[in-house]
Amino acid sequence: MAWGERTLKSKRRWLQERKRDPYFLLAKKEGYRSRASYKLKQILGEYRLIRKGDFVLDIGCAPGGWLQVASEAVGETGLVIGVDIKRVENLGLENIKTILLDVFDEGFVERVLKESKNKFDVILSDLSPNMSGIYELDHARQIEMVERVIQLSRELLKVGGSMVVKVFEGEGSDRIYRNVSKLFRFVKRFKPKASRRGSSEFYLVAKFFKGF
Ligand SMILES: C[S@@+](CC[C@H](N)C(=O)[O-])C[C@H]1O[C@@H](n2cnc3c(N)ncnc32)[C@H](O)[C@@H]1O
Repeated sequence: MAWGERTLKSKRRWLQERKRDPYFLLAKKEGYRSRASYKLKQILGEYRLIRKGDFVLDIGCAPGGWLQVASEAVGETGLVIGVDIKRVENLGLENIKTILLDVFDEGFVERVLKESKNKFDVILSDLSPNMSGIYELDHARQIEMVERVIQLSRELLKVGGSMVVKVFEGEGSDRIYRNVSKLFRFVKRFKPKASRRGSSEFYLVAKFFKGF
């Protein structure tokens, strides 16, 4: 079978599965940009992380499903800054600002602080690399992103703040857990029901940033 034909078949299967996916259908019905919104809703339902008036940074925010949920959680007095290498179509929400920026950009901290004028109460990251289909490679790239988010949290998170970060299960995930545990007083692994069956992702929920 030619590659083009194989790709076409798997794309068709993916589209068919999507039509049956309850979270995809719910997101369409309720006006969310992505099914991923329900992962954050489930995380927030379990752990009280975002309060009215909070400043939230969402790294890897496109197409904007988490931004919408965070915007509801912080309310009119809060602010959500979203960062991604992909442009986010305007969500029409006044408490959201988005920045087109790579998480590995050297000027990341300055660029974000220029927009927020403040450190953050909560940092969210749902970052995923472009998938090659080779698990070891995708895992290593994703772990590199998580490590970068942890490094950024040292500079961008308020003392006492919280972090939610997606991690691909694998060789590097225990190390990540240990590193996050050094920086926060409370750390839990959480797998939302909305995560796809068979997906290797889980989320680390970390609270009470120690500030060093
Ligand atoms: C799973 S999606 C996020 C979905 C989002 N939470 C939502 O609810 O709509 C992962 C995002 O990570 C972004 N991403 C990948 N590499 C990145 C990088 N180096 N810097 C910033 N964003 C990146 C992708 O462009 C993609 O939009």
